[in-house]
Amino acid sequence: MTKIDLNKLPRHIAIIMDGNGRWAQQHTIGRIRGHKKGAESVRTVVRACREIGIKYLTLFAFSQENWERPENEVKALMLLLEEYLTKEIEELQEQGIRLVTIGETGLLNSSVREKLQRAKETTAKNDKMILNLALSYGGRDEIIHAVKKIIDDKEKGKVDINKITKDDFSNYLYTSGMPDPDLLIRTSGEYRISNFLLWQTAYTELYFTNVLWPDFTKDDLLKAIASYQQRERRFGLTSEQLKEKLTSE
Ligand code: IPE
Ligand code: IPE
Ligand code: MG
Repeated sequence: MTKIDLNKLPRHIAIIMDGNGRWAQQHTIGRIRGHKKGAESVRTVVRACREIGIKYLTLFAFSQENWERPENEVKALMLLLEEYLTKEIEELQEQGIRLVTIGETGLLNSSVREKLQRAKETTAKNDKMILNLALSYGGRDEIIHAVKKIIDDKEKGKVDINKITKDDFSNYLYTSGMPDPDLLIRTSGEYRISNFLLWQTAYTELYFTNVLWPDFTKDDLLKAIASYQQRERRFGLTSEQLKEKLTSE
């Protein structure tokens, strides 16, 4: 197993879980079976993150754009989500994991919405790790949604537009209250963001791997964390400035 430094963990990991379809193709089976295998990787990674001590895990499970996929695939993905929510709730509870979501979850069918609601309520008091599922999520729409809420608050006299800071704006996003991701992982050898967490990833470290999501293991996760730990997050400063900052702290 890859070694990582437990004192330098990313607080928040976000993952674009990609490659289920290509995995299925490689195994000459249908795409839906690829998604089923992908759901197993979700279990592995959630468990591993909890074990390691990651505080926030955001998984891109279904994008706004994914609604345009063939109807039978969308249906299968929704059923898989329901199945996950039903089967995993007990383990989430045992492990002290709280489930939350980001995205236009109002667009999900009522049966999925109910199960989500139940899972959120049941796990609401857990504080070991936050598992954040991005469902019917699109980053640009999230920003528009935030702008509309700000306008609304302005009309109600609740906000002074001239005084809005970056932190204030962050609090209007679906991810309000969560730290920005420190590490973003994308599987399957695609090098793009695909409308995921556009605002929040401004200074996130990006990690791309060719591994297809259904093949993604705990060791692949550790490799991503190890790579993250070797990077210098300069946030616009020079290396020397960072070192000075560290010694003065
Ligand atoms: C990711 O796998 C799962 C979802 C987007 C829901 P894909 O289904 O996108 O797999 P590829 O990209 O076709 O291989
Ligand atoms: C991104 O994967 C969305 C999820 C992982 C849920 P896609 O497979 O939909 O992304 P694109 O279309 O290839 O960019
Ligand atoms: Mg894909």
